[in-house]
Amino acid sequence: MTKKIGYAVVGLGVGRTHCDAAYNSQNAELIAVCDLLDEKLESAKKAYNGVLTYKSFEEMLKNPDIDIFSVCVPSGLHAELAVLALENGKHVLVEKPIDITVENAIKIENARIKTGLKVGVIHQNRFNAVMKPVKEAVDGGKIGKLILGSFAVKWFRDQNYYDNGGWRGTWEMDGGGSLMNQAVHTVDLMQWLMGEVHSVTSVMGVYNHKIETEDLTVSIVKFKSGAVATFTSSTCCYPGVCTDIQLYGEKGSIEIDGDALKLWKIAGGDNFEENEMLETYGTGNGMAAALDPKLILGHAVQVEDIISAVIENREPLVVPTEAIKSVRIVNAIYESAKSGKEVFL
Ligand SMILES: NC(=O)c1ccc[n+]([C@@H]2O[C@H](COP(=O)([O-])OP(=O)(O)OC[C@H]3O[C@@H](n4cnc5c(N)ncnc54)[C@H](O)[C@@H]3O)[C@@H](O)[C@H]2O)c1
Repeated sequence: MTKKIGYAVVGLGVGRTHCDAAYNSQNAELIAVCDLLDEKLESAKKAYNGVLTYKSFEEMLKNPDIDIFSVCVPSGLHAELAVLALENGKHVLVEKPIDITVENAIKIENARIKTGLKVGVIHQNRFNAVMKPVKEAVDGGKIGKLILGSFAVKWFRDQNYYDNGGWRGTWEMDGGGSLMNQAVHTVDLMQWLMGEVHSVTSVMGVYNHKIETEDLTVSIVKFKSGAVATFTSSTCCYPGVCTDIQLYGEKGSIEIDGDALKLWKIAGGDNFEENEMLETYGTGNGMAAALDPKLILGHAVQVEDIISAVIENREPLVVPTEAIKSVRIVNAIYESAKSGKEVFL
């Protein structure tokens, strides 16, 4: 039997979902975890039989049994740790956003090119079941040339959320607020579905939290294709209202909320297809995954993907050059909101 891939995770907040996925993988072994906090290491030790614990990332890097690192520390540290891991011969799976600046994200890409190792970036919403038929409908021209998009991430986070993390809602470590942290997933989906962004015109503010960044942004987004979209992000919408992804083309309209299909209207299409789509994808991943068990969801898809990418010597599903696009758009939105001007990408 071939040796299992050695897996390690640094940062044990959302990093625990990476640990779970690696621990349960047929092809990997969760070798080690790293965090600055003793209680997080203790808790991991109890959950994962035989796992080694480290308080120092540099020490963990010396472990020769580790092949892949998941980097799950605050966003402003992603490039620093990912580049160190690559320079020490380890493949890397980085949490979103790849980093908070394009400049730092490019450092990861350059280290990847230099070392020839694999780098994946978590953008798990691309793998929601509904996204496959939607992406095919858009790319295959089923809803025609896109005219309009409407994206709204109307979520809620209480003040405790920002106070507990320490790094959240700070420019230095979070790189922003509702947009860079929460809505970057949907920025990624927007550019993935609608194509390259030409310009953004934005406003932002802090409306209902004590943080230095923002808890609300609103933008007009123009695409190189000529299409236009509105993009809203907020953590002020009690109790968390919607994640709207709405696409209107010359030949049809598609509306999604989160992972659930809400509207599927194709000009000249039949009711049978519409009803079938709503039945399969209308309840989100639940129903679709029940029909097709291969649709393992969330982080596990991408943890399994980087493991297979290493075994098969192929590129992971989401590579740095893809993940950099959403960071560039987010920062252009901030620049526009600060300057009061349209910013061209
Ligand atoms: N994909 C998703 O859905 C998703 C969800 C939540 C968070 N995230 C991303 O994951 C990252 C972490 O977010 P979180 O909510 O888990 O934060 P968190 O604060 O809950 O956890 C981060 C952990 O990293 C540890 N840490 C910080 N610096 C460290 C260092 N130098 N070495 C070792 N450990 C260190 C902290 O002690 C903490 O336990 C962020 O980039 C965030 O954007 C992604």
